[in-house]
Amino acid sequence: MKNASEALLEVRGLCVEYGSIRIVENVDLSLRAGERYALVGESGAGKSATARALIRLDGRARVSGSVRFDGVELMELSERQMATHRGNGVGVVLQDPLSALNPVMTIGEQITEPLRIRGVSRDVADKKAIALLDELGVANARQRLTSYPHEFSGGMRQRVAIAMALIAEPKFLIADEPTTALDSQAQDRVLTALDLVARERGLAVLIITHDLGVVAGFAERVGIMYAGRKIEEGPTARVLRAPAHPYTWALIGAVPRLGPVAARLPSIAGEPPSPARRPSGCSFYPRCKVAQAVCREVEPHLAPFSDEGWRVSCHIAAELAAGDAS
Ligand SMILES: Nc1ncnc2c1ncn2[C@@H]1O[C@H](COP(=O)(O)OP(=O)(O)OP(=O)(O)O)[C@@H](O)[C@H]1O
Ligand code: SF4
Ligand SMILES: [Mg+2]
Repeated sequence: MKNASEALLEVRGLCVEYGSIRIVENVDLSLRAGERYALVGESGAGKSATARALIRLDGRARVSGSVRFDGVELMELSERQMATHRGNGVGVVLQDPLSALNPVMTIGEQITEPLRIRGVSRDVADKKAIALLDELGVANARQRLTSYPHEFSGGMRQRVAIAMALIAEPKFLIADEPTTALDSQAQDRVLTALDLVARERGLAVLIITHDLGVVAGFAERVGIMYAGRKIEEGPTARVLRAPAHPYTWALIGAVPRLGPVAARLPSIAGEPPSPARRPSGCSFYPRCKVAQAVCREVEPHLAPFSDEGWRVSCHIAAELAAGDAS
């Protein structure tokens, strides 16, 4: 049974393996109702794999750990029960919007499908779709229902994908790079639309993005992933202003305790380790400018850094913050 103080989503020790390669390791995540959380990290860090694992979307992956959503352990559900949770409880906008839309079905058919399979009449479902598209800033929504995806711009297609994810009124939305493929104006507009509908519904949102401007403007909390692990997490404003983890400094192009937030991730010297060949000790060790001898041998774990749920996985985060690491 759900207890009133329980988080809407509570993930513990999530691991994802493809064959013998572990690409997501021991990720915890907790979201309250209505909260927005951004997951950030370089390409290949395991962000999408984490998102897919939460709703068991990837049949080929071996997923372990606990995912409690709204008081229900999703890992224990049958495939059929899980299908009900997707869409109904959790809406998803996947990373590649083009592949998410069916080119030979009209926009209206696609948006209303989640309702239609639950037995909602076409008329009622269409009305709901029109209202939602309207809310998402799609002009002439009624007429647009009979259009096909290729008749829509990238930004409009992304709104359609968001409408599909929200039509069944989930409490939680996973949006994997919802604006990455768009030009910056379209990005802003789609994000503003998403912000509005999320606010209106008190939706909890897990947004995955490369864009720190998006993180700063949209999410209350941010988690940084590196090589399949979460290495820092905390209130967005504090983490972006003065990150605790050396990787996060590099990511935002900031000097520790100083520095503006760059809008996009700058490149960081060196490559992230392949999940198949993670170094022992700290995964960031080969690229870390302030690494110590201990870092090579001993793996750091996420530990409280300060109040407000700020956590960091670095042996010397406290010394760095105090300015006395040498
Ligand atoms: N189906 C798969 N089979 C094997 N390995 C996979 C599969 N899908 C992803 N991977 C690997 O898992 C790792 C994490 O991939 P994932 O797509 O989660 O990264 P990401 O953080 O979302 O990156 P991006 O920012 O590029 O979207 C990568 O090393 C990737 O090559
Ligand atoms: S644990 Fe060591 S190598 Fe890893 S980020 Fe901290 S200082 Fe750098
Ligand atoms: Mg991804």
